[in-house]
Amino acid sequence: MFGFGQMINILKKNPKKIVFTEGNDPRILEAASRLLASYFLNPILVGDEDEIIAAAEECGYNIRGAEIIDPEKYKDMDAMVDMFCELRKSKGVTPEEARKILSQTNYFGAMLVKMGQADALLGGATYSTADTVRPALQLIKTKPGNSIVCSCFILVRPSATGDNEVLAMGDCAINIKPTEDQLVEIAGETAECAKIFGIDPQIAFLSYSTFGSGEGEDVDKMRNAAQKAKEKYPDLPIEGELQFDAAVSVRVARTKCPESKVAGHANTFIFPDISAGNIGYKIAQRLGHFEAYGPILLGLNAPINDLSRGCTGSEVYSMAIITAALAENK
Ligand SMILES: CC(C)(COP(=O)(O)OP(=O)(O)OC[C@H]1O[C@@H](n2cnc3c(N)ncnc32)[C@H](O)[C@@H]1OP(=O)(O)O)[C@@H](O)C(=O)NCCC(=O)NCCS
Repeated sequence: MFGFGQMINILKKNPKKIVFTEGNDPRILEAASRLLASYFLNPILVGDEDEIIAAAEECGYNIRGAEIIDPEKYKDMDAMVDMFCELRKSKGVTPEEARKILSQTNYFGAMLVKMGQADALLGGATYSTADTVRPALQLIKTKPGNSIVCSCFILVRPSATGDNEVLAMGDCAINIKPTEDQLVEIAGETAECAKIFGIDPQIAFLSYSTFGSGEGEDVDKMRNAAQKAKEKYPDLPIEGELQFDAAVSVRVARTKCPESKVAGHANTFIFPDISAGNIGYKIAQRLGHFEAYGPILLGLNAPINDLSRGCTGSEVYSMAIITAALAENK
């Protein structure tokens, strides 16, 4: 069962530090003020201290107690530059270049996590997804055993009975055209994330074809990926290739693929590419009235998450809790 209450209770026992790379954005300040009032998550606001304080005052948010770190005045910048050069030595980055790159809050924030001064990072209120994700890919890097960083969305539809409907969808935000093997990894990571949110994953590899009803390269890709995933994760219920209706409707599944145990009951969806995934989750959000949380980045050595540039302060607050809870889970 998905619940912020449970996440907050866990965080209360072990409060985490979370970096916000856009420290003077009003939505970040709103979220930070709410977090500071409740003591389970310590925000680090990156940016010019005077500007941040002025912005908070102007919007009426109380950020007393927030740690503010200005890259221009950062006391450990020499150590950060050294570590950055070491991490990027294959690219031949000079200390001068490193200093310039680290003046950007997205790279600086990622280095705070890398140096262990924070547990997690949330950015993207003004940076694009690519500019939020790239420092994480380059500095935090893919965790051992994984070949890619990928992402999923958690979709929650509150129900009148109090039993929320919770789904997972991957990869809607990072890998543009995943290969079969990458899809297998995306499925494994999405299923792990789904479990954190209380989903018992039933995984569907989606396509425009159900068990060979249609033909094409992408149909083969999803069928092969599903087969490989079944072999790699024998304990997970996995099916593919499936059309979305066969994946979720018991009635359609009975007609199209009656032998499948997952069809009709899927709750974890693997899309063939980013176009399908990104459009798919937004349809669920805008027309299906699901709340969408993500993209949640998967496969990194530390939790770094990306906000939508259209986010609200309340969404920043929710994503901060999710990001910190992932740090706890790690
Ligand atoms: C993720 C993304 C930003 C990477 O783009 P990029 O920075 O131009 O990619 P590059 O190929 O230059 O790679 C940059 C670095 O990240 C690494 N990288 C790229 N994709 C990666 C992945 N999926 N997993 C792990 N590492 C990855 C590269 O190896 C490279 O590392 P290096 O600098 O140490 O050599 C790109 O795939 C992208 O734009 N995805 C779509 C994002 C988007 O628009 N989403 C929709 C909105 S939510």
